[in-house]
Amino acid sequence: MILIETVKDLRAWRKTAGHVIFAPTMGALHEGHTTLVREARQLAGPEAKVVASIFVNPLQFGPNEDFDRYPRTLENDLMMCRGAGADMVFAPALKEVYHADRSIKISESSLSKVLCGASRPGHFDGVCTVVAKLFNLVQPDEAVFGKKDYQQLAIIRRLVRDLDIPVKIHGIETVREPDGLAMSSRNRYLSPAERAQAPALRAALVAARQAWQGGVTGAKKLLDLIHDHLAAHANLGRKDYIAVVDQDTLQPLDIAHPHSLIALAVFFDKARLIDNIEL
Ligand code: PAJ
Repeated sequence: MILIETVKDLRAWRKTAGHVIFAPTMGALHEGHTTLVREARQLAGPEAKVVASIFVNPLQFGPNEDFDRYPRTLENDLMMCRGAGADMVFAPALKEVYHADRSIKISESSLSKVLCGASRPGHFDGVCTVVAKLFNLVQPDEAVFGKKDYQQLAIIRRLVRDLDIPVKIHGIETVREPDGLAMSSRNRYLSPAERAQAPALRAALVAARQAWQGGVTGAKKLLDLIHDHLAAHANLGRKDYIAVVDQDTLQPLDIAHPHSLIALAVFFDKARLIDNIEL
């Protein structure tokens, strides 16, 4: 596995790389990310190349978010990428990616207004801009994104559709701790008491899906059920949103259908956790 840190070296590498499958990340890698890279390896087979990127993108952090304290663990990340079968890691410095006087960004105006976008203005424009740039830099044929960040995945699908970017997008199932908590770099911010309550997010979503399978289709009923579950089992958390939405458009539904998603976000003291479940 090789490490590339400059655009010049990347361009040279890309010329002879052939078919490329790409897993963009912000580093601080855990089992969720390495699963993404392993899935890319699986899709690639022995011939195609697997690329991971590690870049903490300032554009997608709000003024009160954790850009400065976002964990940076490059040495360990490189080891994990190597172990998961990456051929190349692109880990550029900030100035390799952004010109000081940059004046163009990509803006999404529908899917990014709901769910996490409602409380993180500008976040998904930052994601779209960096992903479009990374796609232009790495020029992958395919790319993998986690369903844990379902809204991000839906927006990236919209990005490549609307801008005719020739990259096939794959959604990868959420990787979880044994107790059900979705793996996230931000789980490390949880206190022991919060960590003990955090699996309730997943449990509430599973209970709602069971209720739906049992015939409860009204969104309000499903949301009430989740709300009650969280009130009983995760009282250290404060609800940001719980929503029943369409999997593609992310627009809220009154009646949950088989192409629905239930998504939620809960604030703990120093961490905001998200999770979702497909119906
Ligand atoms: P990051 O949070 O580092 O996540 C990188 C990729 O790993 C994303 O596709 C995310 O959905 C996936 N991922 C994270 N936790 C996961 C889990 N528990 N199970 C499965 N996949 C998981 O998402 C970003 O970075 C950035 O927004 C990025 C796309 C790199 C643009 O800056």
